[in-house]
Amino acid sequence: MNLNNKSILITGGTGSLGKALTKHLLESGTEIKKLVIFSRDEQKQFEMAQEYPADQYPQIRFFIGDVRDEARVKRALKGIDYVIHAAAMKHVPIAEYNPMECVKTNIMGAENIINACLETEVTRVVALSTDKAAAPINLYGATKLASDKLFVAANNITGWNPIKFSVVRYGNVMGSNGSVIPFFLKKKKEGILPITDPTMTRFNISLQGGVDMVMHALEHAWGGEIFVPKIPSYKITDVAEAIGPECEKPIVGIRPGEKIHEEMITASDSYYTYDLGKYYTILPSTHKWNLNEFINEFGATKVKPGFQYNSADNEEWETVGDLRKLIKEHVDLTFEV
Ligand SMILES: NC(=O)c1ccc[n+]([C@@H]2O[C@H](COP(=O)([O-])OP(=O)(O)OC[C@H]3O[C@@H](n4cnc5c(N)ncnc54)[C@H](OP(=O)(O)O)[C@@H]3O)[C@@H](O)[C@H]2O)c1
Repeated sequence: MNLNNKSILITGGTGSLGKALTKHLLESGTEIKKLVIFSRDEQKQFEMAQEYPADQYPQIRFFIGDVRDEARVKRALKGIDYVIHAAAMKHVPIAEYNPMECVKTNIMGAENIINACLETEVTRVVALSTDKAAAPINLYGATKLASDKLFVAANNITGWNPIKFSVVRYGNVMGSNGSVIPFFLKKKKEGILPITDPTMTRFNISLQGGVDMVMHALEHAWGGEIFVPKIPSYKITDVAEAIGPECEKPIVGIRPGEKIHEEMITASDSYYTYDLGKYYTILPSTHKWNLNEFINEFGATKVKPGFQYNSADNEEWETVGDLRKLIKEHVDLTFEV
């Protein structure tokens, strides 16, 4: 995508995905006009600013703000072309315990971003979602489903404004903050890897895979799509075996709000879902564009009625060997078994 002379804002720019996107954007060789990192914690911004000194990266700006604060969001969006919305509360048990905090950040925050984008010159918005938003059973997933609905429906109220809102939904990001792989790498030192449930499976994507899907959505969205990359699954027991074959692996039971398997596309979504080769797209029930033109443009094929994209029934799996290689490549260069 040609980002020359474009101004981009990343909410949650100091998080796992935000940092990977920043690296990608600043090292893509394009002449971005401005890249704004929007988040609350000054310490994280201070540390990130050390990695990107102003003399070497004059495009980068650090903007303290909370997505719950609409006026601040609107101020930050002045002069911005593209927004990537990655800020969220994402820890399932914390959201279960503090539900309204999660609602305020993930739902009210999404609404604030949409309103501010509609009132400024922003033309493209990609919001990050999660497999936990498809048929949610926990509060985190439910707030992300509500957020997805807000971003998809935002396309209905754009009037003549050329702005396009879309969503990227994916599963566990390998090595991201608070995820299972860094947790197991830490617990390995104690010789114990607690397994929540021996049958548990998850989708797996690398940070770069997440970045690529976001960049694709930014460039190709027609408005209202939920982009779902085709990614492998792993068994949680294989992750434990890959990291600490010598460790004790007690079964500790699932945490509040956790599922045994994750789903990215439900059977009910199948009626709106198209296969575009490397990824699926769940289309909005109403859209301003022509469906036949969309199908022709992307060579899209409708999936079978009742199709589900579930981490347990996946056709592609990471083996213990694959996981070891990926951990060394994407999470910890010093990783050895
Ligand atoms: N990591 C995964 O496995 C995964 C999987 C699927 C989807 N996702 C989605 O991908 C997105 C990014 O996840 P991540 O792993 O990068 O998360 P992360 O590492 O926890 O980063 C979250 C970012 O959001 C910021 N933030 C949190 N609350 C905020 C608020 N109220 N206002 C402004 N900024 C706020 C945080 O900074 P401050 O705390 O300083 O504000 C941080 O920069 C999220 O939407 C998440 O739901 C993640």
